[in-house]
Parts: sequence; structure tokens; C-alpha cells
Amino acid sequence: MATVDTKKTKGPAKTGPVKTAQARANRALPPGYARSRGKQVQELLDEETVEVPWQLRHSEFTYLGSAPLSREHYISKEWAEREIEKLWSKVWQLACFEQDIPEIGDHIVYDIVDWSFIIVRTTNNEVKAFYNSCLHRGRQLCENQSESANSPEFRCPFHGLSWNLDGSLKQIPPSIEFDFPHVDKKKFGLPEVRCEIWDGLVFINIDDNAEPLLDFLGDITKHFERWPFATRWKATHTAKVIDCNWKIAQEAFMEAFHVLATHPQMSIGLLGGDGSNTEYNIYDDGNANWSRMTMAPPMPNPNLPYELTERELIEEMFYRGESVSEMGVQKMSGSINDLPDNITTRKLLADAARARGTPGFVGLPPTDMELTSAIQYHIFPNISPWPGPIFYRYRPYGHDPDKCIFEIMMMVSLPKDQPRPPAAKIKWLGPDEQFGSIFNQDVENVARVQRGMKAAKPPGHLTLTNYQDIKVRWHHRLLEKWLNA
Ligand code: FES
Ligand SMILES: [Fe+2]
Repeated sequence: MATVDTKKTKGPAKTGPVKTAQARANRALPPGYARSRGKQVQELLDEETVEVPWQLRHSEFTYLGSAPLSREHYISKEWAEREIEKLWSKVWQLACFEQDIPEIGDHIVYDIVDWSFIIVRTTNNEVKAFYNSCLHRGRQLCENQSESANSPEFRCPFHGLSWNLDGSLKQIPPSIEFDFPHVDKKKFGLPEVRCEIWDGLVFINIDDNAEPLLDFLGDITKHFERWPFATRWKATHTAKVIDCNWKIAQEAFMEAFHVLATHPQMSIGLLGGDGSNTEYNIYDDGNANWSRMTMAPPMPNPNLPYELTERELIEEMFYRGESVSEMGVQKMSGSINDLPDNITTRKLLADAARARGTPGFVGLPPTDMELTSAIQYHIFPNISPWPGPIFYRYRPYGHDPDKCIFEIMMMVSLPKDQPRPPAAKIKWLGPDEQFGSIFNQDVENVARVQRGMKAAKPPGHLTLTNYQDIKVRWHHRLLEKWLNA
């Protein structure tokens, strides 16, 4: 059994100028169709030992050109105002999860820019959303953003007018009722905002004429039939105001090739991959507002200046590893010689997840890919659900293009018959508090991106890659469509 030369593997792996047949073949391909060295995600799926779901085989890509992207999308106050007028006032957006408001009377506040809405469970089967503004002199009826609460009514703290959960007026305090003779109490209900639910996710839309939610979402709903949210429990929910535009924060999670420079500790100093074998999909079927990326699971990095075998990588990761706890990898006992000859790193990790009995994919025989890779969907404009437990949301911070709200939720899949604890309440992190580990590197990075973009020599256009930035380009393509409508 060969062992890894530790001189080669000390610290982050260095990538080298490897000339391969693939590199030559790439030069002959049309723009956007060149790929990194090494096995691609679809080739890895060919090696699965359980049935591969059609969702993972639904791999679409369309070249969207190589044009530069204007930095104004991120730094211009005028652009941010156009987004408010043309996007946030008209698009379906995630307000909360049904599990945030499980009991009648449970309600939560969702804020977006200057708008504020109360999302309330009115019956066991109904959720409604109201403008969070008193009809008397306009005070907010509910205050705590994202803090769910329960009450049998909405009573304004200013002068005491109150409304029922269904929005109808409950009472004008008797002592002041004499002064409201001009008010038709039957017509003095709280104005509603469109509110529709997909699989436990509660969306609102300020536009009364918007298409139905499910039409907007398109075929992503079919993809998530395999990973339903109804079986998930929101175990954690963390939020932080960070110093960049909401799109810069989001786009830090729309590609994985920044792992090479931003997260060199991942996959044991990049020996297990540098993100360049990630698959990117955009679903350009005329109705799609979503995209996906699938990071290849740990495997010998094909960009090393020397060949690394699966066994050598396994030995380094599981038998010698000292710095891999962030990846959830534990040092293995015993000898590597106990492992089958054809063992792969991903198979070892996937089987370990199965053995723990917490694969997070209840009711499925999950593939190695689902258990060991980061599969991330993005639903336009601002959420990213994973088949795995992670879920992101990004929101503008008021009218300020230089700030945003970034939220990370852990949506854990639980067996249907297992009682689930209450959904986690949102925990707001202060300026000096951090999300932890790898996320901190992203959060520090995105603030520097915002700053650097503003510092660029005009016009300061951005030069995106043809393939690996395709989700970023697609997102801006959709955004421009909305802003120009
Ligand atoms: S502002 Fe709400 S009761 Fe007066
Ligand atoms: Fe990152």
C-alpha cells in the first residue's frame, strides 16, 4: 500500500499545469462547454450502487454568452430602487415556514424593504397574510421581525383597536367608538396580501395580479418531491446583517470554484477536490425561475501536479487526518488494509452516513451523491433549498445596496412518526458574532467584494466565466427581465 508523501500534502494542495487530452479537447468545444479535468458529476452517478433518481440526471445547461456584467447591479442606489419597484413588489418570496406557525393564532412578521406583513395561522388548514399596519394612524400591529408569537387577535398598542385573526375588525374600544361614525366596521378589515403555500413553505406576493405560486415555481416542485419539506424540521435559524448587496451574498453560494482560494482547508487541503468539478444547471424552459449546482463529492483532486489515488486520499483523510473535523470526517480506527480494494472516498463517507442512521433522507435509499456532495438549488429571486438540510435566504437591507440580511436554516429530515420539537426561532447574530467555520470565510469575503467593486476603475464591469458562473449570469438574466418588464 503506497502512502502519501506528506511533503507533498502539507498545507493547501498546490494545483499544477497538467496538460491532458481533456484540456486539448476543451479547446475544440464551443464556449461554455469546456469542463475541468477529472470525473464529472454525471460520470460519478454512473458508479452509484442504488437507483439514481431522475432529478439528479436532469442536467441542463445553456450557454448564455460571455458578456461582461455591470457592477451597477450591485452598487447603484438607482438599481436597488428599481429592484424594489419592479421585483420585490411583484415576485413570490418566502415569508416563513408553516412549522413557524403551527397553532391557530400563531403569527410571524416578514419584512422586506419598507413592507412588513403578518403571517398568521387562522385555522388548522389556512394561513393568511396581512399588511402589518393599523388602519387608524398606521402603527405597526406586530413588532418582532421573525419572532413567532401567539394571540387570539391583533390589538394595536397605540389606541387599542383590534382585529380578529381572519382580519375582520374585532373592536374599537367603547370609550372612543363615538368618534368613528364614518367607519363601516364590516369594511374595516385588515388588507390582505397574497399568500400561498408550497410543501410547507409560505410565500407572499404583493402583486394582486401575480401568477399562482406553483406556476411561478415551475418544475422545481417535481424535483423536491424526492426531498419534501413536509418531513423536515427547522432545527436552527440564524440571521445576520452583512456588508454587501443581497446578490453578492447569494452569488457566493452559486458557484463552488472559489473553494480553491477561499476555503483551502476544505477536503483536507484540497486533496479531495477544489470545487472545479461542480455541475451547474440552469433550467431554461420558459417557466423556470430556478437553477442548481452539484459539487462533486470528495475524490482525488485531478488538478494536483501528481496523481493521487483513492486509497491515498482515504489514508490521508481518515487515517492520518488532523484537520478535517470541519468536514464532519472522523479518524477511522483499524487499518486501511481492511477496506475493499475498490473503495472510494465518497463510498466510505456515504456508508458511514448510512451507518450513523441519520442520512437525512427519510424513506429513501439515498445515493452516495446525495449523502456526500453539496447539492444546492436556487429559486429566484432569493432562496436556496438543498436536498440536504441547509436552506439559505437573502434579503435586501432596507434601501441600502451595500447591506443585506443573510439567513441560514438547518432543515432536518425526520421520520414522519417521530415527534418534532418546535421549529427554531430566528437567532440574530450581532456584528461581532459569526455563523461559524467555512461560512465566516464567505461572509468576510463578500464584504470585500462589495468594497472592491466600488473601488474599480469605471465602468468596472465584471468578467464572468462561461460555465462556472452560469448561475450568476442566469440570475441576472432573470433579474433584468423583471426590471425591464
Ligand atoms: S394607531 Fe392603531 S389604534 Fe391608533
Ligand atoms: Fe464559500
